[in-house]
Amino acid sequence: MNLQDIRNDLEHRLPKERFDHVIRVTETAMELAGKVGVSVEKAEIASLFHDYAKFMDRKELLELLQRDEEYELYSQYHSELWHAPVGALLAKEKYGVEDEDILQAIRYHTTGRAGMSDLEKVIYIADLIEPGRKFPGVADLRQRIEGESLEDQMTECIQHTFKFLVHQYAVIFPKSFDCYNEHVRRRKEQ
Ligand SMILES: [Fe+2]
Ligand SMILES: [Fe+2]
Repeated sequence: MNLQDIRNDLEHRLPKERFDHVIRVTETAMELAGKVGVSVEKAEIASLFHDYAKFMDRKELLELLQRDEEYELYSQYHSELWHAPVGALLAKEKYGVEDEDILQAIRYHTTGRAGMSDLEKVIYIADLIEPGRKFPGVADLRQRIEGESLEDQMTECIQHTFKFLVHQYAVIFPKSFDCYNEHVRRRKEQ
């Protein structure tokens, strides 16, 4: 697989701002992967694809999502979440990505899930804290997770996301609850 081809493809598919975000997520993920002993190569591929389907129109997204085994579940939640499973599908079908860990990292980068692999956590965290993110509290979040274990970083990130979602009265995807509960439970047991 030629990663430059993916970059060129992304540059045409995504608005500049989103393309730049993908590049920053990729840099952040590769750096984090290197620090925590995750494959830097896999981190690069997963992050390049993570928002691959982000700007597809809703109808096209829905058509692709219908082929997904979790269609029933995703279709009940906000369409903002759909680009993640569809991105994994396109990575597999258009670029022949077969590595399940990479595909899961693309699939769960928005929601998280219980039992995430280290690669999945790296992509989730990098997506949230890449240097271009400007949401309130991001500087504090970056500071809190600096130098912490990957597990602890993930716990802080999922907690941050939950606080944000609850504050917005957002409907929360059930797998995100599983992710949150797993991390909070682990922390309480420590
Ligand atoms: Fe995304
Ligand atoms: Fe993203």
